[in-house]
Amino acid sequence: MSAHDHVTPYADDQVSKKGQVTNMFDKIAPYYDQLNRVLSLGIDVWWRKKAIGLLSKSQPAQILDIATGTADLAIEAAIKIKPKKIIGLDISANMLKIGDEKILKKGLQNIITLEQGDSENLRFDAQSFDAVTAAFGVRNFENLEKGLAEMYRVLKPGGTLLVLEFSKPAIFPLKQLFNIYFKYFLPLIGKIRSKDEKAYQYLYESVQAFPDYGNFTKILDKLGFSNTEYKVLSAGICCIYLAKK
Ligand SMILES: C[S@@+](CC[C@H](N)C(=O)[O-])C[C@H]1O[C@@H](n2cnc3c(N)ncnc32)[C@H](O)[C@@H]1O
Repeated sequence: MSAHDHVTPYADDQVSKKGQVTNMFDKIAPYYDQLNRVLSLGIDVWWRKKAIGLLSKSQPAQILDIATGTADLAIEAAIKIKPKKIIGLDISANMLKIGDEKILKKGLQNIITLEQGDSENLRFDAQSFDAVTAAFGVRNFENLEKGLAEMYRVLKPGGTLLVLEFSKPAIFPLKQLFNIYFKYFLPLIGKIRSKDEKAYQYLYESVQAFPDYGNFTKILDKLGFSNTEYKVLSAGICCIYLAKK
């Protein structure tokens, strides 16, 4: 396990990181989408669009969206790529409930199916998908390498991995300004709106501990992925990682 795997939402030794993460997302699910828009000033929508735009070049027919949450990435992929099938998987039943409502409203139920499951123990056969995606999900895994290895296993040879994740801006003065916002203001707004004391403080802490940029592609290389690359978004607040099996 790496250092990042030990960052948990709540200080509770009795419950695993996976259990704590599930409880946290079950709790904040009703507020999740609205808080994403407010806290990112709507930029998170553009980040997902950009990521799916890059994935669309390989025209995947079968897509697995890991940690799909309320299905924003899966919905964007369904609209832009028009694949045969997208399975969206998440450990939090409450996040999936909201995702299902959105999919029905948009009439995408023939393309997207949501199901509850653990990304570190996927029920799918090896080599099942043309693309495996995860937006703001891998940072929450209990065991990052185990989760990524599972994504590798279920990808077809030549298939594409797409990961969208927060990173740490490195340029002065954005680094300093963003850090103040991310460390102090965002947890405060998050706490008031989501009614969860810790969720948005965990967001800050988990991003600090996460191996971003080249440190992340190094892990992908080690697990067998090839053509690993990353694209920095919004001056380093967010990053798209692409790789092939
Ligand atoms: C920050 S949300 C991202 C949701 C969505 N992908 C998006 O772009 O908004 C992270 C999601 O990862 C899910 N998650 C965390 N650990 C997981 C695991 N081991 N297996 C499946 N889902 C997991 C959480 O339940 C949560 O819905």
